[in-house]
Amino acid sequence: MQPQHLNAPIGVFDSGVGGLSVLRAIRRQMPAEDLLYLADQGHVPYGSRTLEEIRAFSEGITRFLLAQGAKLIVVACNTASAAALRYLRETFPDVPMVGMEPAVKPAAERTQSGVVGVLATPATFQGALYASVVERFANGVKLLQSTCPGLVARIEQGDLDAPATRAILDDALRPMLDEGIDTVVLGCTHYPFVIPLIEEIAGEDVRVIDPAPAVARQVKRLLDANGLGRPAGKRGEIRFYTSGEPAAMQSLLPKLLGEGGLVRAVHWRGNLALEKA
Ligand code: DGL
Repeated sequence: MQPQHLNAPIGVFDSGVGGLSVLRAIRRQMPAEDLLYLADQGHVPYGSRTLEEIRAFSEGITRFLLAQGAKLIVVACNTASAAALRYLRETFPDVPMVGMEPAVKPAAERTQSGVVGVLATPATFQGALYASVVERFANGVKLLQSTCPGLVARIEQGDLDAPATRAILDDALRPMLDEGIDTVVLGCTHYPFVIPLIEEIAGEDVRVIDPAPAVARQVKRLLDANGLGRPAGKRGEIRFYTSGEPAAMQSLLPKLLGEGGLVRAVHWRGNLALEKA
């Protein structure tokens, strides 16, 4: 493996645009860092795929990001973390890595009603990571789960407040509200983009937990611990890649990230390769 250098970029990936919620938090906390972001939109959604399939995609993407010089990998996808994080850590033992896990711990610590809603994909709920988080942290708190069918696809379209998006969240949240939830855990990185809608439906007494700022803090800690943080200075650059449609992703960036950028095409041919310009 090539030596890691503090001026190298941080590599971030997701099945689609969801990981931009994590990228946004990293950018706020570490504006000098260069960033690579890969959206595997040729395969989105991951949530209904098998864990083996998601693991293979995650390994291919990690190899690609390392080949582009990434000094640290952020698995900005709960589903990929559930399926592959442990395997990636074993396969790339020298690479600092940060993944996602549903924020059951802070939710269980803070709930007053003792009932918490968790929104995540089917694959996330099936993985051993979720079972272990529940076992370690639920602590007698009642967890109500929903997979919000179709929500990732709506967010991929940029439909953040369309009636169809609201209907999916209504179906997920109403039964939970009837059972007395006072906290909602966003266990999928796409979902922070619909926090305004969730707050509208759930009302102001329900706390919504977006894990992105805590994940960004963990990235910073790990960079610092490895002497890999880039000193403050000029604002870092972001390079975007998608295995889907670059123009479609590019048009969504200002809405989701608050800034634009050029999106390059990558293709799966066994491995992931950059399309020749
Ligand atoms: N953004 C992803 C997550 O955090 C996955 C969505 C999907 O592809 O199903 O789980």
